[in-house]
Amino acid sequence: MPSSKIAVLADIHGNMPALRAVIADLERQAPDEVLVAGDLVGRGPEGSLVVETIRALGWPCVRGNHEDYLLGFVRREVPDSWWREDEWAASRWMAAELTPTAVEYISALPDELRPTTAPGLLLVHGSPCSNQDGLGPWTSDQQLSRHLDSIDENVLVCGHTHRPMIRELRNGRVVNVGAVGLPFNRDRRAQYGLFHTDGESWRTELRAVEYDTGELLQVYEATGFRAQGGVTAELIRLEVEQAVPYLVPFLKWSRLVGAAPDLSRVPEFLEFYDPGEPLNDFFQRLSALRA
Ligand SMILES: [Fe+2]
Ligand SMILES: [Fe+2]
Repeated sequence: MPSSKIAVLADIHGNMPALRAVIADLERQAPDEVLVAGDLVGRGPEGSLVVETIRALGWPCVRGNHEDYLLGFVRREVPDSWWREDEWAASRWMAAELTPTAVEYISALPDELRPTTAPGLLLVHGSPCSNQDGLGPWTSDQQLSRHLDSIDENVLVCGHTHRPMIRELRNGRVVNVGAVGLPFNRDRRAQYGLFHTDGESWRTELRAVEYDTGELLQVYEATGFRAQGGVTAELIRLEVEQAVPYLVPFLKWSRLVGAAPDLSRVPEFLEFYDPGEPLNDFFQRLSALRA
């Protein structure tokens, strides 16, 4: 088997300034192949442009859960309340922003991919079971090994959690390449993975590329995403600035305290939520509230 260098990008989330920075870095790295692990769209204003860019570059892509969410809106398959509630304003906006070409492209994406230049690596969005199943630092070795047992390859590559991770297991390696467009590891840079093989073994390199988050936030204003995206756009803005999750913790908190998840409740939530706290600890504090 010849040597090969494969780049994997995940979770671009409609963030063109971050994608442009990664494309520039890839020109220097010169991989043999580039694969994309899904979530091209959602949680960001320029989904159609991201789809068009990836399509024009001819980089194969798997389907993320955010492709599924927005297709649900496009096909009007979502619950009636999602057309009214503030919580879904950003999704309505992003679904309406998708061009027919972008819709056609994301509708046809597969669940998994393998590189053509080197065998032994499988790419999915979440896990081999589901694009909503996240493999992160909290996932046990036992669970990761079970996923490796379920596939033919010994390198499993994924995204979805927005947290980069390399885990060596008894039966292979699991790599989460982190997020290009919306990292949650307190590092605002655009992140992706490079996989080098000499034909025998694999070496993984996680990369992080500087880009101007201010430029992205200007796109939020210029496109109307911030003005019309409701509470979701507001919380994603905080996620971009701080590279930590705000939206999912807010939605869980609001459900638990029985508050409508709209902008008016954000100050109360921010008093309760400490973005420096591990998410599992936050969820435990939430459970204690319920008890
Ligand atoms: Fe994502
Ligand atoms: Fe995802």
